[in-house]
Parts: sequence; structure tokens; C-alpha cells
Amino acid sequence: MQIIESIGEARSIIKRLKNQNKTIGFVPTMGALHEGHLSLIKKSKKENDNTIVSIFVNPLQFGPNEDFKKYPRTLEIDTKLAKEAGADIVFTPSADEIITDNPLTYVDINELSDNLCGAKRPGHFRGVCTIVSKLFNIIMPDSAYFGKKDIQQFYIIKKMTNDLNFDIRIVPCPIIREKDGLAMSSRNNYLTVKERNDALILSKALKKGVKLFESKETFSEIIIKELKEFIKTVKNADIDYVKIVDENMKNVKIINRGNILALAVYIGKTRLIDNHIFGEKVCF
Ligand code: PAF
Repeated sequence: MQIIESIGEARSIIKRLKNQNKTIGFVPTMGALHEGHLSLIKKSKKENDNTIVSIFVNPLQFGPNEDFKKYPRTLEIDTKLAKEAGADIVFTPSADEIITDNPLTYVDINELSDNLCGAKRPGHFRGVCTIVSKLFNIIMPDSAYFGKKDIQQFYIIKKMTNDLNFDIRIVPCPIIREKDGLAMSSRNNYLTVKERNDALILSKALKKGVKLFESKETFSEIIIKELKEFIKTVKNADIDYVKIVDENMKNVKIINRGNILALAVYIGKTRLIDNHIFGEKVCF
């Protein structure tokens, strides 16, 4: 496995692979790799001749009061894990390499970013779209793999890819959970033992939401109210949002299969997200 830091080197390797008609699968990450990321790498490995993983903690997608500085940076372990999962190349550019001096161009997306995390984290998806576009332009993959835990991000990247005519297949991958239901996330690293236990309220709330829907409750307002009350039973949990939306990230009144139950909850100081698509297999 090669570790590459410069755009120039990445481009020349990718040119060679393209000349040899090799397919490229791409897994963009911010590092602190866990089983969720590794499942994306393994899927890409199965479906492509070469798999490239990027590791870049993107300053553009963090708000001024967010955790950019303390975001876990574990490059040595990450490269080892990426290799074991089947990555051929890890691309790990510095911020100076990827963000040009005085940039005046950004990629922004309307509407899809107005709700959920987009509403709570202004500028977040502009940062994500800008950096993912840059990475797409450098790597030029055939397929790119995104976890459904960041469900809004997945739909946004899919739309952006289509809108900007990137010739890239965007592949959604299932949420990977711990045995007890907690969705894997690099931010779980911040949790104390007590908070780790409190964090189970997210997956439990999703489970409760699914049960209500399966018992024929289709009014989103009723399910949201019940879930908010349920989450509040954990003292340490502070609700950021509980919403039910369609694929365009618009709130729905009457729930249908395919609609998304999405949660963001602070456990102590750590903001965690989770979701479930109604009608999909329950895995918690
Ligand atoms: O999902 C992430 O880790 C990031 O948002 C991404 C896609 C790597 C862009 O920085």
C-alpha cells in the first residue's frame, strides 16, 4: 500500500491506473478509522481494481465552536487499518496542499442542506461539498463509497455529483453498529464510560420509532413527540433535533416507507447523530 501526500503524485499514479483501464474505488474519510470506514474500504476492494482512501480532517466543514482542533488524528493506526482492509493507496494531503491560497471558489448546495445538520451547522455542507469536489477532481474515481450514518451527507453528495456532472457512482453503505446498537462514529472516542452507556438512547429511540410505525402510527408529529420524551429520560442527553424527512430532507407529516427518522443528540458535550430509513431492515 502506498501513502501519498502530494496532489501531483496522486495524479500521476491515477493517470497510470487509468491508462491501464483499472477501475478506481474511492473512500473519503477524516481518519480515526473504525469498522464503519473499513466496511466501505472492503466493499470498494470487492468492486474495483484499486481502492484509494483519503484521510483529511477538513477544516472547511467545522464551525468556529466545533471540534476541529480536538478531532482524533491517528494516522499511523489508520494507515495500518486501511491496508488490512484492502486499500491500495492512502492519500493524506496537508491542508496547505489541498486548500489553495486565498480560495474564492466553493461548492454549495441549496435546499438539501437547509434542514437537519445543515440547519444546525451553518456552512458544514458547503465545506463537505467543496472538499469532496476537490478530491473527486484529483482522484477521478469510478465509484465513491459513503456511509448511511451521515444520511444527509449521502443525499447531498449524490445530488452534487449529478448536478456537477461528475462521472462517479455514489455507493451508499449500511450503518455499522456496536453489538449493543450504538452507531460507530469517530466521535464515540470522546465519550466517557457513563456517556457511552447514555449514548445508547439514540439507537433505542430509533427502535422505538420503528415499533410505533410498525404498529401503524404514521403521524410524524406523534412519533417525534414520543421519541423526544423518551430521549429526555436520559439526564445527560440534550436533543439537537428529532425529525422525519423524505429524500429531499423535507419534513414529512405522514410517514411512508423510505422516509428517514433522523436524530442528533448531545451526550454531554459530544454531538452524536443516527438515523433509520423506515422499511429497511432493523439492525439495532
Ligand atoms: O464523512 C466524512 O468523514 C467527511 O464529511 C468527508 C466525506 C470525508 C469529507 O470531509
